[in-house]
Amino acid sequence: MSINTEEEFIGMQKVSDVVAIVLRKMKSYTKIGMTTKELDDYGGELLTSFGAKSAPKHTYEFPGFTCISLNHEIAHGIPSDKKVLKEGDLINIDVSAELNGFWSDNGTSFIVGRDIHGHKRLVDSSRNILIDRISSIRPGMKISDFGKSIERQANLNGLKVIKNLAGHGVGRSLHEHPEYILNCEDKSNNNRFKLNSVVAIEMFISTKSSYATELNDGWTLVGNNGGYVAQHEHTILITKTKPIILTSANEI
Ligand code: CO
Ligand code: CO
Repeated sequence: MSINTEEEFIGMQKVSDVVAIVLRKMKSYTKIGMTTKELDDYGGELLTSFGAKSAPKHTYEFPGFTCISLNHEIAHGIPSDKKVLKEGDLINIDVSAELNGFWSDNGTSFIVGRDIHGHKRLVDSSRNILIDRISSIRPGMKISDFGKSIERQANLNGLKVIKNLAGHGVGRSLHEHPEYILNCEDKSNNNRFKLNSVVAIEMFISTKSSYATELNDGWTLVGNNGGYVAQHEHTILITKTKPIILTSANEI
């Protein structure tokens, strides 16, 4: 969406605060021995306490309040009472919701307990690339050039990007124009970032895979070539200077 009034700004900031606080609280609630279903139920209770509705559940009939992806899962992992968190697991939580007609989206990957499998470099790179690249966004910048710069940074860190998952416009629904803010160059995409528009910037930084493929459950995405993927996501407002990170309360 494009923000043209103070009311729209306040509405977007409110829902962004909610998804960001829910994400931050879910992260600190995460413990070894807990199931991803317990973690999701906690997130669902928090969303309800703020009067917000889970976007995946209400828009896409996703079987969970939040998406929780474990280890080889990249995204859209289904919360389950059979998935028990273990020391060193790589976990991604993605929280998106609607409040008073506004929608916001954010996510983070982190390690459960001690980093016994050596995921720290991947997780830190994913987070650092997100923050660095967001600060480069200006109105008029070609979305394809932005994507190219993400892949370049991933490569400089000895990592890859997932080329068929993308950031997106957000605000009056979960996914809006521009629909594909890829993590790589896309010569067919002539769209540019627009002043006062709201977008969800999310990066899928990968050790081995370049594409996401869907499992038979119709939801869970995994890499085409194995390895691990970290995702971090913020909803931002594009201004003349540095973008405003609307979901900064998640503290990623
Ligand atoms: Co998103
Ligand atoms: Co998301």
